Amino acid sequence: MAPPDAVLGWDADTTARAYAAFTRDFPMYRATSRDLARRANLTTSRLVIDLCGGTGATAEAILELAPPQAQVLSLDNAAAMQHVGRHTLTDPRLTWITTPAENLADHVPGPADAVVCNSAIWKTDVPAVFTAVHRVLRPGGRFVFNIGGGFAGVRHRDETSTRNGPSLNTLIHQIAARDYGYTPPPAAEGPPALPLEKATEHLSAAGLSVLDTEVIAQRSTMAEKKAWLSIPVFARPAGEFTHAQRMDILTKAYSLCTPDAPTVTSWLVVVAQRLEAQR
Ligand SMILES: C[S@@+](CC[C@H](N)C(=O)[O-])C[C@H]1O[C@@H](n2cnc3c(N)ncnc32)[C@H](O)[C@@H]1O
Repeated sequence: MAPPDAVLGWDADTTARAYAAFTRDFPMYRATSRDLARRANLTTSRLVIDLCGGTGATAEAILELAPPQAQVLSLDNAAAMQHVGRHTLTDPRLTWITTPAENLADHVPGPADAVVCNSAIWKTDVPAVFTAVHRVLRPGGRFVFNIGGGFAGVRHRDETSTRNGPSLNTLIHQIAARDYGYTPPPAAEGPPALPLEKATEHLSAAGLSVLDTEVIAQRSTMAEKKAWLSIPVFARPAGEFTHAQRMDILTKAYSLCTPDAPTVTSWLVVVAQRLEAQR
């Protein structure tokens, strides 16, 4: 079963349109998708799965590297995200399927050469998804995914050294408190949602082994962070605010930043494989 809030916010036209515009105008999701597609070894692939594919940024990266006869299935449970994707990315090799990642195995016609999941795995029921990935992969097939640094509990050294001044998120909370009387909830101190040890345990329980892991740094700017925080599903602060109020707070917070100031986001990248069949 998917966590109850898995699709909350994603299946909205406003989010889907803003997300697609963001992936078009800023490099983050295209760059992380290309990184994963490259690690999936797609040169001889015939069937590749784009898991939690959203509006298609990852499918596009896969299509660039897969051979002309390969088929790509992009699965996501938010119809609104796929609706935008279907209209912007038309390639005869690509099929869109609206379904939870947990139901993957019900929709894959044959053994898949690779499964790629960009920026989403920690939002799913991870053990169920890993089991489904094992069912659809051919022996030796690769499963490549990434986990946002905060969710994996990792930070690239460049992220630590680049920090100059308060983050946009910190400023948002300060302005919300000043102008809207916002009281932030007590900081949720707890373990990260999906550290490598936990992901490795779930992979191994599902019959998948880790081939490689790397903490990578995605470089961007405050301007990109602002655009990302304008996507309704990511807008802050949480709680009883309208989107217009959140955008008012964001504009004020952003005015205190330097637009070109470099920022760094960390990602934990995992390359796993279904074990070869025993002879
Ligand atoms: C940040 S977007 C990533 C989309 C795409 N991979 C990309 O790089 O642009 C996260 C996506 O995960 C999807 N998602 C979250 N939980 C899901 C689940 N349990 N099953 C299927 N899709 C899910 C959301 O609907 C959303 O489209």
